Amino acid sequence: MGHAERILVLDFGGQYAQLIARRIRELGVYTELHPFNISIDVIRELRPRGIILSGGPSSVYDADAPHPSSELFRLGIPILGICYGLQVIAYQLGGEVDPSARREFGQAEVLIDDTSDLFAGFNGEQSGPRSTVVWMSHGDALTKLPEGFRGIGHSRNSPICAIHDPSRKIYGVQFHPEVVHTVRGKEILRNFVVGICGCSGGWDAGSIVVEKTKEIRATVGSSNVICALSGGVDSSVLAVLLHKAIGGQLYCIHINNGLMRKNESEAVVQLYRDTYHFNLKYVDASETFLARLQGITDPEVKRKTIGAAFIEIFEEEAKKIGNAEFLAQGTLYPDVIESVSFKGPSHKIKTHHNVGGLPDHMKFRLIEPFRELFKDEVRAVGRTLGLPDEFIVRHAFPGPGLAVRIIGEITKEKLAILREADLIFIEEIRRRGLYNSLWQAFAVLLPVQTVGVMGDQRTYDNVIALRAVNSLDGMTADWAHLPNDLLAAVSGRIVNEVRGVNRVVYDISSKPPSTIEWE
Ligand code: XMP
Repeated sequence: MGHAERILVLDFGGQYAQLIARRIRELGVYTELHPFNISIDVIRELRPRGIILSGGPSSVYDADAPHPSSELFRLGIPILGICYGLQVIAYQLGGEVDPSARREFGQAEVLIDDTSDLFAGFNGEQSGPRSTVVWMSHGDALTKLPEGFRGIGHSRNSPICAIHDPSRKIYGVQFHPEVVHTVRGKEILRNFVVGICGCSGGWDAGSIVVEKTKEIRATVGSSNVICALSGGVDSSVLAVLLHKAIGGQLYCIHINNGLMRKNESEAVVQLYRDTYHFNLKYVDASETFLARLQGITDPEVKRKTIGAAFIEIFEEEAKKIGNAEFLAQGTLYPDVIESVSFKGPSHKIKTHHNVGGLPDHMKFRLIEPFRELFKDEVRAVGRTLGLPDEFIVRHAFPGPGLAVRIIGEITKEKLAILREADLIFIEEIRRRGLYNSLWQAFAVLLPVQTVGVMGDQRTYDNVIALRAVNSLDGMTADWAHLPNDLLAAVSGRIVNEVRGVNRVVYDISSKPPSTIEWE
């Protein structure tokens, strides 16, 4: 944990807590998100330069409202409270919060009342009040300042919506500087992190590579490391980073489960074995997977069958590699915080599959160099390491692969149809330069035949559904409003070029209530 400059964001259950962490990282400062009730001893050990208290849905008066330890305010570390964070500061330090205040949601104008260092640079050369547009989302409002504080901002509905105590370096804002609708939000966060906490920035993909390479070498010593390389963004960047750190001590295993997209396994082998000269074991297990999937139509049974087969084959291959003490995994930061958040992990909708489900008797030590990183940071690391763009800016692809995009039983014939249709859809999207602006786009093969007519002949063939969505994190998604001419071109090509398909439909469902994948 060698981050000289670290900011902690304490999560009070707000929907924007992760976003705050990301914004600070965008300023080049390493940031960690922790539950609001992290122990004070741990905070001391982490030696943060500053602490941000996030927003949250509670009222400070609720019976089960999250309250931090009051010791937090005596640590001498600068603190910025945002929304609920501001209210909890005020409440715990002797101010007053009015739960019956007028609610305020959406954009609002705030008058910055003072030349506080939190608003440094806002007034340029002039002094005096300055108005700025912010994003508000709160019920309760501050009505009395705590001892030692001054009000430094007010809006029409919130007489005190920004406060500071310069001597203790404790600050609070009622609005959300982390969202883009707060026009000068980034400057406020920069003023806190750089001006008030004294961070100098400089934490970027290049420094992550240097830091992680050192860490990996120190951890691994002369042992070997095993890594499951699917070819997705996370496993690709992980493998390249490990290879840079330990070269020939890295053993990658690529399991072709027969459920990959067209040419996918070939591209993985070509890049990593032939171009990068990795120790790469290519295992063609497609027949095994297909045999086990025979007759299975239930989505959860499919997922579990694939997960179990994967682990079995992976274990078998891993045993063949000598002196392998470590298993590398591309666990990302959102996976970690999901499990530490004080709200507990969210409700399971589908069984997601990755190597995390390895049986206990496989006594590997884990290396997870991306545990502190968000997906876009992993991509930046990949770019720094020179990984080709096609492996970095790829749409997510589920572990169970095309099996969850063929509704009903999986057969070789259906897989062949889906691969061709999917490729056409992606080709046409790329041709129009839209690939990178979509979260995901793919084809789904439906278990229905419909009647059509081709060259005076009646046909009774399959239906392909096209799915394209926009999303920030895959948790929610909107169906993408693709141009009509693109949809027309894809439909025309699929029906003409893919034997066995005579109808193409477009999925116009968002998540929720639907999910992105169909199974
Ligand atoms: P859903 O279908 O739940 O998908 O809306 C959300 C995101 O997760 C991807 N996904 C998976 N990723 N293993 C994975 O690594 C899985 O088993 C899996 N299932 C779904 C999905 O493609 C989407 O991006």
